[in-house]
Amino acid sequence: MIKRVELEISSDCNAACPGCARTQNIDLVKPTNLTLEQIQTWFPNPMGIKFKFCGVLGDPIVNPQCMAITKYLVDNGGEIQYSTNGGRNSADWWRELGTLGIDVHFCVDGTETNHIYRVNTNYKIIKRNMQAYSDAGGKATWIYIVFDHNEHEVEQAQQLAQQLGFNFATRTGMRNSFHNWVAKIGKKNDKVKKVIRTTGAKQHSKLEVVKKLDKFIQDENKSQEQIQKIISSISCKYYHGLEIFIGADSTLWPCCFLYDSDFNNRDGIREKYSAYPSDWNDLNTYTIDQILSTDYYQKSLRDSWDPSHNLHISRCIRTCAENRSYQNEIRYS
Ligand SMILES: C[S@@+](CC[C@H](N)C(=O)[O-])C[C@H]1O[C@@H](n2cnc3c(N)ncnc32)[C@H](O)[C@@H]1O
Ligand code: SF4
Ligand code: SF4
Repeated sequence: MIKRVELEISSDCNAACPGCARTQNIDLVKPTNLTLEQIQTWFPNPMGIKFKFCGVLGDPIVNPQCMAITKYLVDNGGEIQYSTNGGRNSADWWRELGTLGIDVHFCVDGTETNHIYRVNTNYKIIKRNMQAYSDAGGKATWIYIVFDHNEHEVEQAQQLAQQLGFNFATRTGMRNSFHNWVAKIGKKNDKVKKVIRTTGAKQHSKLEVVKKLDKFIQDENKSQEQIQKIISSISCKYYHGLEIFIGADSTLWPCCFLYDSDFNNRDGIREKYSAYPSDWNDLNTYTIDQILSTDYYQKSLRDSWDPSHNLHISRCIRTCAENRSYQNEIRYS
């Protein structure tokens, strides 16, 4: 029984955050939107399901049917949480959203400096939208990734969140501890390149655990005992969290990570999964139940955590072993 569904209702976005898979592979992105009709077909009874409108390649609020999809799911007993940059749509649109009883995570990384990571967004518009949503009684959390260039604005954002009646939380992302990003800011043909760093205490707290996992992945002489220990430390969104992920291209995955791996063909995932027909996880061909009853979901995915398995994807170990040490940490204040 599935309890949680992450929906990438759009693979289009108004922003160009330098650490995002869409920005890094913009030539590979084919922007698409899920439709209300598809959602109604896949979820005729959404009662009791927790939907997360997030994704890998886009922002939910860019989908022209975002409001209609939200209303359908809420009116039929679904719970919804958005993750959004908040920089699109009118104040009226946000006011209407504020009446629907959903939960919005506004991912805003700074006040005046927000556009340095959230490239192409306009803080004044985001502030207006947050205010409109708040005025209508909307429930929200301001989620703030602390980088070197925006740490001086954390306190101001926290106060603003309080005035809006929002929760406030900071977030780390392991990727920010492994990479500096280069943001291209400014007018289209005259972009200024700005290097974005995350140093010191702002880094992900479990960096050393992930480095150890990377060593384990690369070690060619792993013992059976070490392998079993690592496998038993995996906390899988699908098997343990009873969650699924649906991409804007209508494909169903156990999580955003494998959808992302397929998008970039990391770990040779496409070759490994080529034994399956091309539409094996396409919801325009099969129902959710049909896909989830395949051998892949019933058994092979779990078996594939063993590095000797022919479908093994090391990403399962990197992101989910040691109880998800790799994954974003959110600290509420
Ligand atoms: C691809 S975004 C999709 C949702 C939406 N467009 C957004 O940005 O909130 C997926 C998630 O990654 C987060 N994210 C983006 N860049 C990040 C980074 N460098 N470190 C940690 N999380 C990041 C986003 O805030 C969002 O929660
Ligand atoms: S707002 Fe989200 S989807 Fe858009 S570029 Fe930024 S991280 Fe990616
Ligand atoms: S990466 Fe692998 S282990 Fe982690 S949630 Fe996805 S399928 Fe499960």
